[in-house]
Amino acid sequence: MQDFQNKIICGDCIEVLGKIDKPFADLIFADPPFNIGYKYDKYYDKVKKKNYIAWTKEWMVACKKVLKPNGSFYIAIGDDYAANIKIIADELGLFMRNWLIWHYSFGQQMKNKFARSHTHIFYFVNDKKDFVFNDENVRVISDRQKIYRDKRANPEGKMPDDVWDEYPRLCGTFDERTSFPCQMPESLLARITRVSSNEDQWVLDPFNGSGTTAAVAHKLNRIYTSIDISEEYVNESKKRIQESEGLPVEGEGFPKWPEHADRELKWLCDENKVPDSQLRENKMLLALFTTKLNNRLNKTQHYTPDEVTDRLKILRKSGKLSQIRR
Ligand SMILES: C[S@@+](CC[C@H](N)C(=O)[O-])C[C@H]1O[C@@H](n2cnc3c(N)ncnc32)[C@H](O)[C@@H]1O
Repeated sequence: MQDFQNKIICGDCIEVLGKIDKPFADLIFADPPFNIGYKYDKYYDKVKKKNYIAWTKEWMVACKKVLKPNGSFYIAIGDDYAANIKIIADELGLFMRNWLIWHYSFGQQMKNKFARSHTHIFYFVNDKKDFVFNDENVRVISDRQKIYRDKRANPEGKMPDDVWDEYPRLCGTFDERTSFPCQMPESLLARITRVSSNEDQWVLDPFNGSGTTAAVAHKLNRIYTSIDISEEYVNESKKRIQESEGLPVEGEGFPKWPEHADRELKWLCDENKVPDSQLRENKMLLALFTTKLNNRLNKTQHYTPDEVTDRLKILRKSGKLSQIRR
C-alpha cells in the first residue's frame, strides 16, 4: 500500500483499484465524466446510456471495495444519471447522508431552456452509525449572527445548508484555474475533506482530472491517491501539487501572511458568504471571523481583527477575493 500513498497514478481506475485487496480509503471523492460529450484527452464522453450505467456500477463497486468500514464516499454527477447513482448505491449497501446540490454562478447559457447551473453531489457512508463528521470544522456564521445580531445565536455558527451556492464555477480569470476544462473549486473540496476526514487520513479520487482533490488533501495534511487515464492530466496535476504548500512549520523568515493563511482567509469569506466590506464595518462579525481563521490555522499563526482587516483590503485590491452573493 505504501506505493499508493501521496501518488497520482496513470491508469484505468477500475483496473488500478482492482489490484488492491484491502480497504484503505477514509474518504473517496469521485467526479466522473457525465456522459455529456465533454472533450477529454483520453476518454470518449458520449457513450450509449446502458454502457455508461454499466460502467458507473463497475467503478462504484471498485471504490466501495477499497472504502474503509467507517469511510465516506462523495459522488458528483449531472442530472441525467443522478437517479442511477442513487439506485446503484442502494444496491451496494451504501447509506445516503445527504443529496447535496452545488448551485453555481456562470452556468451555461442556453437559448431554448433554462440555464443549467447545478451539479448533484451525493454523500454516502459505508456504516450509517460510524463515520467521521467534523461539524466544528465547517460551521458557518449564521444569519442570526450576521444580520440580526441575536445573542441567542450559537457562537459556533450553523451547519451549512444542503444547497451549496457559495462556490462559483471556476472561470478563466480565477487564480487557481488550470488549463483543465471542468475543474472543481478547491474551497468546495476543502469543505468535504475537512468534514469527512481527519489529518493523516487517506483521500482517494478515482477521476483525478486537474488534481483538485489531491491538491486540497495535500494542503490539509491528508494522504492522497488519485487516478486518471490521461498521462497529460497526471503530469499536470503532479506539477500542481509540487507548487502547492502543505501546512508549514514556523521558522526563520516565516512570512507574516504565508500562502496557507491567505488561502484560508479567502475560503472563509466564500464559505460564510460574508463580503469583506461587511466584515470591515461590523466589529462583532470581524471578531467571529478572526476566531474562525485562527482556529483553522492549527496555531501556526495568530492574527488580530485589525490585521485581518488590513489583509482583506490588500487581497481585495489585488483581485484575489471572489465577489460574494448575499
Ligand atoms: C470530470 S473530470 C474530473 C475533474 C476533477 N474533479 C477536477 O477538479 O479537476 C473526469 C476525469 O476522469 C478521467 N477518466 C475517465 N475515465 C477514467 C477511468 N476509467 N479511470 C480513471 N480516470 C478516468 C478523465 O480523463 C477526466 O480527467
